[in-house]
Amino acid sequence: MLNPYSERAEWLEILTRELPDMDIQFWPDIHDPDSVEFAVFWVHDTEDMRRYPNLRAILATTAGVEQFAGGDYPDVPIVRMADPTMAGEMAAYASHWVVHFHRKLHTYLDQQAARVWRPIRAAATGDFPVGILGFGAIGRHIGKCLAGLGYPINAWTRTGGEEEGITHYRGRTGLEDIVCASRAVVNVLPDTRETRGLIDAGVLARFAPGSVYISLGRGATTIEADLVAALDQGVLSAAVLDVTETEPLPSDSTLWDHPRVRITPHTSGFTRARTAAPLIAANIRRIQRGEPPFPLYDPRQGY
Ligand code: GLV
Repeated sequence: MLNPYSERAEWLEILTRELPDMDIQFWPDIHDPDSVEFAVFWVHDTEDMRRYPNLRAILATTAGVEQFAGGDYPDVPIVRMADPTMAGEMAAYASHWVVHFHRKLHTYLDQQAARVWRPIRAAATGDFPVGILGFGAIGRHIGKCLAGLGYPINAWTRTGGEEEGITHYRGRTGLEDIVCASRAVVNVLPDTRETRGLIDAGVLARFAPGSVYISLGRGATTIEADLVAALDQGVLSAAVLDVTETEPLPSDSTLWDHPRVRITPHTSGFTRARTAAPLIAANIRRIQRGEPPFPLYDPRQGY
């Protein structure tokens, strides 16, 4: 059962090519619900899911899978989307904003408008550490790209880690330490019980003065009212939000006209049929061979 969010024709075409022996039924035209073994979607009507008694797995088209928390979907394995192309787009997005604020590129717009030629000496790249909150496949790729540009990389995870060239942090104390030790903080945390509202006034107070916050994982991890207060108090110099507590961001949100907030509409990385559909087909093949698909959603961890 296929119900992609976008690029419907491409999804159908690629899955039909990759899985020629399978009967791909495009929702809502499901002609034989009993034959449905695999469901491919981002979110889907949980009532409708009850129509497929022989469902073996759900293959999500998204990297973040908080939509499955709460147990409303059938109790079958759920596979997340781990698409290096999406991680690459997100790394480009994060790198863009890190460089933008590190090199103070925003100030040149004003200078150009005023016909002013005044070089601003930015900190050396090696003196501009970037903290990455969430260091799974996406966070790691962002770290690799920024390290390639010469930025020192700090990483925060639940369990910590050890890796040459990366300073690892873990736990609550580690969170306060990493934001204090970084000039830009990139948040790619998933939305789980543990991360919901994690970036609150207490954590924001620990950010290095004048640092930049770039959020492209899930809006629920950040308390927006606390973020605005931190910006207004001058703790943070800017925030870039690709994700917000409520999406779409309501038109009356004060975030829209905050002079130091940049908003993009959840577009730091896209699920693209061209790369994502073959990954889903490969996971279906794995399940058919009796091998574990990956990455598997773990309901206890929430991602
Ligand atoms: C998009 O936000 C995703 O999780 O893939």
